[in-house]
Amino acid sequence: MLPFHQVAADDFAAVNQQIIDQLHSDVPLVENIGYYLVEAGGKRLRPLLVLLCSRAAGYAGNAHITLAAIIEFIHTATLLHDDVVDTSDMRRGRLTANAQWGNAPAVLVGDFLYSRAFQMMVALKDMDIMSILSDTTNTIAEGEVQQLVNAGDPAVSEANYLSVIHKKTGALFEAACETAAVLAGCSADERESLKLYGRHLGSAFQLVDDALDYRGNPEELGKNVGDDLAEGKPTLPLIYAMANGTEEQAALVKEAIEQKNSEKLTEIVAAIESCGALDYTFERANKEVELALEKLEFLPNGEHKAALRQLAEFSVARTK
Ligand code: IPE
Ligand code: IPE
Ligand code: MG
Ligand code: MG
Ligand code: MG
Repeated sequence: MLPFHQVAADDFAAVNQQIIDQLHSDVPLVENIGYYLVEAGGKRLRPLLVLLCSRAAGYAGNAHITLAAIIEFIHTATLLHDDVVDTSDMRRGRLTANAQWGNAPAVLVGDFLYSRAFQMMVALKDMDIMSILSDTTNTIAEGEVQQLVNAGDPAVSEANYLSVIHKKTGALFEAACETAAVLAGCSADERESLKLYGRHLGSAFQLVDDALDYRGNPEELGKNVGDDLAEGKPTLPLIYAMANGTEEQAALVKEAIEQKNSEKLTEIVAAIESCGALDYTFERANKEVELALEKLEFLPNGEHKAALRQLAEFSVARTK
């Protein structure tokens, strides 16, 4: 548990229990894969956002527990699918489901988790929440497809990249915060503020994820580094290096993207470090965090608001 989980510790235990209960299936393979991934933990940032935002906005009921579990199910489904499309073999410090069981079970159990999330949503009986989450899952899928189209293309612009990370990652952070605001009965302005807090936080989180794919420590991250390069993904560190590095650095990066080849990972890491591309990516993430923090101002001061601030700061300072 990270320090900012502490203030919601009881709610958090209830969310974990609900996650376990809702993984139930008569088909053992579904439960095996589901438990395998859930047991490995993960940071649980998105469900925590639901708990903290709803409590910070004065919510006193119990539906936030189910909502938090729904958001984590959607996240887990995207991870199962993501590791197949990224051909990744490490996640949360263990083999990915696709590496352990193969692509077909990983994709199908991902579908199971998505649809279980929708079953749980119906039980909440809130059309606003249904609407936000159905739009969100659609946006995530669109972001992943847009990214697939971009792979191998060194001409992808920074704006295009930012749109991908907003869709594939920012959207779910945004939805966690906005649906919590709906539960808490926030005004339209307050709801928009929490939504934007989530959006900026999510963008910061993915910017850092993309930097850590070059600078991170696999032991701490629980996943391999260099996967993005192997897939030819034009992420911000590479886009910056092609625009601001030396001619040789730009050519090295361009070729690796075009060939979807991570053989020269060590040289590329040296190039993007030396031209300041990784520092630039962290600076961009820091700017997103500043924007996120501004959006919290309307909330009453207290431990939930403080934890939301810490969570935003963690998104950039993190090593895992
Ligand atoms: C991984 O998300 C996918 C991204 C959006 C980068 P997390 O880093 O939150 O994954 P877990 O849940 O903690 O494993
Ligand atoms: C994850 O992006 C986005 C989604 C899960 C939709 P990445 O592909 O960078 O996430 P990791 O690095 O595998 O966790
Ligand atoms: Mg991935
Ligand atoms: Mg991916
Ligand atoms: Mg990544």
